[in-house]
Order: sequence, then structure tokens, then C-alpha cells
Amino acid sequence: MISTFPTSVLPVEARASMRVKMLEEELSSNLNSMICGFHQLLDLKDLNTGVHSTRLAEWAMRVGQELGIPEESLQELEMAAVVHDIGKIGVPDAILNKPGKLTDDEKAVMNKHPEFGWGVLRLFPALTQTSLITLHHHESFDGRGYPGNLRGSEIPLGARIVTVIDSFDAMVSDRPYRKGLPSEEAKRRLVESSGTQFDPAVVKCFLKIVDTELPTVLAAMGTGSNLVF
Ligand SMILES: [Fe+2]
Repeated sequence: MISTFPTSVLPVEARASMRVKMLEEELSSNLNSMICGFHQLLDLKDLNTGVHSTRLAEWAMRVGQELGIPEESLQELEMAAVVHDIGKIGVPDAILNKPGKLTDDEKAVMNKHPEFGWGVLRLFPALTQTSLITLHHHESFDGRGYPGNLRGSEIPLGARIVTVIDSFDAMVSDRPYRKGLPSEEAKRRLVESSGTQFDPAVVKCFLKIVDTELPTVLAAMGTGSNLVF
């Protein structure tokens, strides 16, 4: 219910506090609109594989909460889960949609997409963490990823989370050219690459919640899924 109490009679501190709250709500609303805009750009370029990014946002929130990420950072993690591949807009369609194996030169262009995405997102001060997660979402825990060859805790935690949930979701999802893996096999592969590609702590956390959280992740999307479980 909207309060009709005249704010002018409130103490200065209370008015300041109300103003801060209003500005926070405005910022949050603007951020959501911005991310919706980016999401639509991904759709226009056909880079949103169905509900993939929505599922990732749901997983990101759950893993982030389980790992105790503070509330203010959770929103940026959630946004990164949705827009981390936005830089693929800068990759030519001939490379993006090439059915066969990429040449070394094509792969080099494709591997630029984290930097392309960071280049856009870093322009928004409120998306600093989101831009860094985007920049580093293809780093590998053992330092063999790109673009920074960062290793371990040098990689932002949000990026380590996105790497795990993105890989899991990609493995269990159907593609036009292949059927998704059963979740047990996808989980086995996460464990297999734990400590090399993936942060073992993130994998452990994800495995702890994946089975129990799956129904709520699907319910939160309000849609069916092509997941194989
Ligand atoms: Fe990517």
C-alpha cells in the first residue's frame, strides 16, 4: 500500500533513508531493463539457445547463495549468467554457425568473445562485476583457459561459477546435432575435470544441490525443458 504520510514532516534521516531506498530501487529496475535489452540482442542474433540463459540465471542464484555470496553481488552474478556470451555478437556468423571444426584462425576470433563482451559491459559502472565475470568465463582453474590464463582464486568466483553451470547445462541440453547427456554422465564429467577446468569447491557445491534444486529451477522458468534427466 502506498503511504500517504507527508514525507516533509519526517525527520531528515528518515527522508534521506527513503530517498536512498528509492534510488536503489530505481537502479535495480534500470539494471533489469538493461539486461532484458541485452537478452533481446542475444535473441536477435539467435544466441539464446531457448531457455539456456534463464536456467543459468536460476542456477547461478542457487549456487551463489549456497556459497554465501553477498546479496549485492548475487544480482551481478545472475546478470552475468544471462549475458556472459554477449560478445559473440561480435563474432561473424560464418564462424558462429559453422557446422564443422573451426580452423585455428577462426578459433582465435571465436575466443575473443569474452573480451568483446567485457568491452561493452564495462561501460556501465553498475556492471563492473558482471563485466569481469564475462571476461573470465572461459578461464580454466589450472590456468589453461583464456583470455588471461588466470588460475585458481585469480579467477573471479562468479566466473568460476558460470563456467561450471554453463558446462553442465550445455552437456545435458539437446542440440540440433546431438542429444543431451544424462545428468549422471554430466555430473561425472564435472568431477573428472574438477581441479583442472573447474573449481573443485564450486563443483562440490553444485553437485550437492543439483538434484534437489532441479525441480525448482525448472518451475522458476515456468516452462518445459529439453533437459534429459
Ligand atoms: Fe562463452
